[in-house]
Amino acid sequence: MSPAGTPLRLGVLASGSGSNLQSILDGCVGGSIPARVGVVICNVPGARALRRAEAAGVPALLLDHRVHRARDDYDWELVAALRKHDVDLVCLAGFMRLIGPALLSSFHNKILNIHPSLLPSFPGMHAVRQALAAGVRVAGCTVHLVDEGTDTGPILIQAAVPVFDGDTEETLAERILVQEHRCYPRAISLLAQGRVQIDGRRVRISGAAADAARTLSSPELLD
Ligand code: GRF
Repeated sequence: MSPAGTPLRLGVLASGSGSNLQSILDGCVGGSIPARVGVVICNVPGARALRRAEAAGVPALLLDHRVHRARDDYDWELVAALRKHDVDLVCLAGFMRLIGPALLSSFHNKILNIHPSLLPSFPGMHAVRQALAAGVRVAGCTVHLVDEGTDTGPILIQAAVPVFDGDTEETLAERILVQEHRCYPRAISLLAQGRVQIDGRRVRISGAAADAARTLSSPELLD
C-alpha cells in the first residue's frame, strides 16, 4: 500500500475514549504493527483520544463536524487532512460518524473499522445491547473494511467471547473491548505485511495459522 521500504502511514479517526487508538499507537511503537500513525483526527472537542495522540507525540487534529452544514463538505475536509499527512490506511476507532462517498472513493478499500459484535449480527448503534437483547451466548468483535453500508464491509478478523448469565451491557462490552485491543493491531499488521487479499466479500489471509479443532462455546462443552 505504501511505496516499497516506507512504513504504512495510518490515519486514525476517533470520537471518544480512544482505547483502540491507544492499542494502535502502542502496537506501532512496540513493533507489533509495522506502521506509523501519521495523524489522529477527532470530531469531538475534549475527547480523550486527542490527549492520547498528543501524549504519543502524534499530530492530533480536532475537526468538528458541526462547523459544516453539508456532510460532504466535512468528508472532503477529512480527505484533505488525511492526504496532507500522507495517510495510506484510515482506521476508524470509535468514530461516531457515517462515512460518506467522498471519503470512501478517496480511500477505496483502505478504510478499516472495528465493531463490537460478530457481524453481520447487530450492526449499527448499541451493538452490545442488541446482542444481550437477542440472547446470544457468544458475542465478540469484528474488524472489517468499510463500504457504503453500515458495518457491512468485508471482514478481516473476528474474536468471540462468552456471554454470561449475569452480564450487563457494561460487563459484556468490557470483555469484548479486551479482544478489540488485540484484533485491531493484528488486522492492521496483516494489511501492512501485504498478507490480505480481498476477493468479493471474502478476505483471504496468507500464512494464517488454522486449528480446525479449536472452538469457543458458552456454556463450555464437556466432552
Ligand atoms: C469500541 O467498542 C468500538 O468497537 C466501537 O466504539 C468503541 C470505541 O471505544 N466502534 P474506544 O474509543 O476505542 O475506547
